[in-house]
Amino acid sequence: MNPASTSFSTLIRTASHEQHTEAETSTFMSDLLGGGLGVEAYARYTEQLWFVYRALEEAAPRLAGDPVAGPFVRPELMRLAALERDLAHLRGADWRAGLSALPATEEYAARVAECAATWPGGYVAHHYTRYLGDLSGGQIIRDRAERTWGFARKGDGVRFYVFEEIANPAAFKREYRELLDGLRADDLEKQRVVAECKRAFALNTAVFRELGEEFPLSA
Ligand code: HEM
Repeated sequence: MNPASTSFSTLIRTASHEQHTEAETSTFMSDLLGGGLGVEAYARYTEQLWFVYRALEEAAPRLAGDPVAGPFVRPELMRLAALERDLAHLRGADWRAGLSALPATEEYAARVAECAATWPGGYVAHHYTRYLGDLSGGQIIRDRAERTWGFARKGDGVRFYVFEEIANPAAFKREYRELLDGLRADDLEKQRVVAECKRAFALNTAVFRELGEEFPLSA
């Protein structure tokens, strides 16, 4: 594909396609969505997401005025409150007491925080990798989680996947792709953003690897 004639939203999706397949078909994800793991594995995964979204969303108010990252910062995407409700449901009211990040999660959250602090384009890469994924494949995960562990439809336990304030996810994703296409960056910077997106996928896959070690299917 010729990058010069391809929209940035297409470029970033195409460039991360292979790694998307890798993340989607990782042992942990396959076992989790295949119904082979207990709710404990799902809760542990949800905890890891909390650390990542804290890093993404703690930085959001500060980045809202940034010319590059600012347009992406939208209140209707914020997931931390939903994650906290899910964790209270999964772990109980004192969910914070037992919360711990896997080493791969620490690395992931630290990289998000570093980008947020020093590089708005890198922050956009992480923003895209998480939120556009949650709006897409996240809906498949929600459906599977509801059926496997008996959560109420779009209720406690799966609120992370429910974007209450986004009535039309398909339209929202279209607008989001338009924002990507209008990213205020030259070609070199766009290449760097794509590379950071690949890194974001690799960071996710590393979390899945560690979760897979903690929750082997045979156990
Ligand atoms: C079992 C797990 C997953 C499933 C079933 C899944 C499935 C999907 C589906 C069906 C789409 C829609 C593609 C489209 O709109 O054309 C999508 C898009 C996306 N997914 Fe996933 N996904 C999974 C895991 C992940 C993970 C772990 C990430 C990264 C953290 C991720 C990031 C994305 C992104 C960024 C997009 C948007 C691509 C674009 O249109 O630019 N997905 N996913």
